[in-house]
Amino acid sequence: MASCIKLKLDLCILFISIALFTSPVFSDLIISRVDRRIDLTSHIVRITSTIKVENDGSDPVSDFMVTIPDHQAEQLAFLLAYHTEGKGKTKSRGASLPIKSVNPEGMPQPVTSYSVSLPKKLGKGESLTLEVLAAFAHILRPVPEQVSQGDLQLVVFQDSAYLISPYAVKIQTLSVKLPDARIESYTKLENSKAQGSEIKYGPYENRSPFSYTPVVVHFEYNKPFAVAQKLVREIEISHWGNVQITEHYNLVHGGASLKGEFSRLDYQMGPHAKGASAFNRLVAKLPARAHSVYYRDEIGNISTSNLHSDSKKTVLEIEPRYPLFGGWKTFFTFGYGLPLKDYVYEAEGKRFVNISFGSPIDDLVVRELIVKVVLPEGSSDISVSVPFPVEQWQEQNKLSHLDIGGRPVMVLQKVNAVPEHNQLIQVYYKFSSLSLLREPLMLISGFFFLFVACIAYSHADFSISKSSASYLAKLQWEEVLTTIQQIENIINRCLTIHERLEASLRELSRTGNVQGCKTARKVADGLLKDLSKELKLLLVSLQTSPQAAQIFPKVEELVAKERELQEKLITKHSIVVDCYEKKLSGREIENRVAPHQQKITALRQEVDDLLEYIDGI
Ligand SMILES: *[C@@H]1O[C@H](CO)[C@@H](O)[C@H](O)[C@H]1NC(C)=O
Ligand SMILES: *[C@@H]1O[C@H](CO)[C@@H](O)[C@H](O)[C@H]1NC(C)=O
Repeated sequence: MASCIKLKLDLCILFISIALFTSPVFSDLIISRVDRRIDLTSHIVRITSTIKVENDGSDPVSDFMVTIPDHQAEQLAFLLAYHTEGKGKTKSRGASLPIKSVNPEGMPQPVTSYSVSLPKKLGKGESLTLEVLAAFAHILRPVPEQVSQGDLQLVVFQDSAYLISPYAVKIQTLSVKLPDARIESYTKLENSKAQGSEIKYGPYENRSPFSYTPVVVHFEYNKPFAVAQKLVREIEISHWGNVQITEHYNLVHGGASLKGEFSRLDYQMGPHAKGASAFNRLVAKLPARAHSVYYRDEIGNISTSNLHSDSKKTVLEIEPRYPLFGGWKTFFTFGYGLPLKDYVYEAEGKRFVNISFGSPIDDLVVRELIVKVVLPEGSSDISVSVPFPVEQWQEQNKLSHLDIGGRPVMVLQKVNAVPEHNQLIQVYYKFSSLSLLREPLMLISGFFFLFVACIAYSHADFSISKSSASYLAKLQWEEVLTTIQQIENIINRCLTIHERLEASLRELSRTGNVQGCKTARKVADGLLKDLSKELKLLLVSLQTSPQAAQIFPKVEELVAKERELQEKLITKHSIVVDCYEKKLSGREIENRVAPHQQKITALRQEVDDLLEYIDGI
């Protein structure tokens, strides 16, 4: 209630302060028609205005002024204007027009002004159509500000039914698109109506400059309200063929905060009823050729996240360990590699990286986005090209193995980044191929000295230390440890394949795609067979080492258990697929799978325990 009153007060102040000014004359332009569409289906609010501008005076005009009320302008993340021609299917869109922030004299106080350069001077009586797109980041306000676990989330959006403009407007309409038809309330005016999930205002005729009438919409919004308070994206270029991307997120649910206790049990029993305002899944769309994808948080790698890919994209589903309610935070990192040749090119004696700027996560607002492009050591003459304003500076501090001086880092910073900022940026740099040889030269000279040292060693008489029993034992033990490490790695790879099999079953239950599921099994089967061959060889070599006598039985047991687990999983997989083909009910499928599932869970536990035991040696 208090917030409602405050809201009305805000609006009154805005209204009065605008009304107090007699508007100055900016030019002889008038707006013969404007259609505004406000899209509230995302927490990133987008307002698209199609504006027909006409020159009513006698002097040619080259600029058009866009004014945005200050309370919105503070949250403005992205502004774009372009010229359009034609209508409907034949509509064509020109290049984006230069926009600059201006501060004209005599402007009513509470608006922020931008000047758009028209594509051509508009002569007497001429007209043209502009499209202006504005995206706002934190403009939906949760009302009430706190909800309990079982409540829905309601938000408020406020604007004016008339375009706030320094020009007179002949005809105008406004439409407001909501996520669904559940509207708590909206301001009713003459010529206003709600139709399903859309509210329409107008047409209104002949309004004078800076006409204003408040419109408030209060509606249900239960989509992820994902806000990254800070995102650091590291793009590391290695001329050895890889671009490594690492993204560190500090994420918060920006909606109504949770009041009272959170019950995990309630949530699990009915996430829709007992956690409608929470979210537990985000989707990141990575490039199709992303490889070595991983996702971890403070605790460790999260392997339950899903990864799908097709020829156009790789989709990573990010599932935090707990659902996020309003005000809750989570930290996570994901990373992936990209093939260098798709992103780094050569032109006019320079190289350049051509890569997307923003976060690959859908519908995310980033309050502070930092993009660090880490160039190879020895790069010089660095410059960037970004299609929108950013802060930028250079650092020299990233030391990776084999670097001597550190690598130059180009740092770009953007406050309030939205998906509209996911545009390509280019970082240009000079790099002599000789620098590329530095690392191998270091390696080669390193090996050379090692080689010389070995020769010296084999010619010298070290008979005492070399043949000493303890020295030999140490070498053999190290060999055993290496072999065990390799076995563990292979078992872990097998476990990852098991997870993929399980994921394909989940996919099946979602999409019913039996063929896809069968393909997944075939692929997994092939991979597991190969790994099993490798395991056999390693086991043989371990068995022949007397040092491994103690540990060998455990390792052998691990391999055997994993093998059994594999077989059970494959059996379960074929049962489920079979059931789907026969179109059996979910209950029937569960009955058939249950005994196998029990065994699988037990075996998985045994494998984990053995891995832990062996890891401990
Ligand atoms: C997490 O995954 C990454 C990449 O696959 C790997 O390098 C790292 O060792 C893993 N960390 C743990 C704790 O498993
Ligand atoms: C950057 O890559 C895109 C395609 O990914 C391409 O269309 C664009 O022309 C490239 N930019 C430059 C400057 O080469």
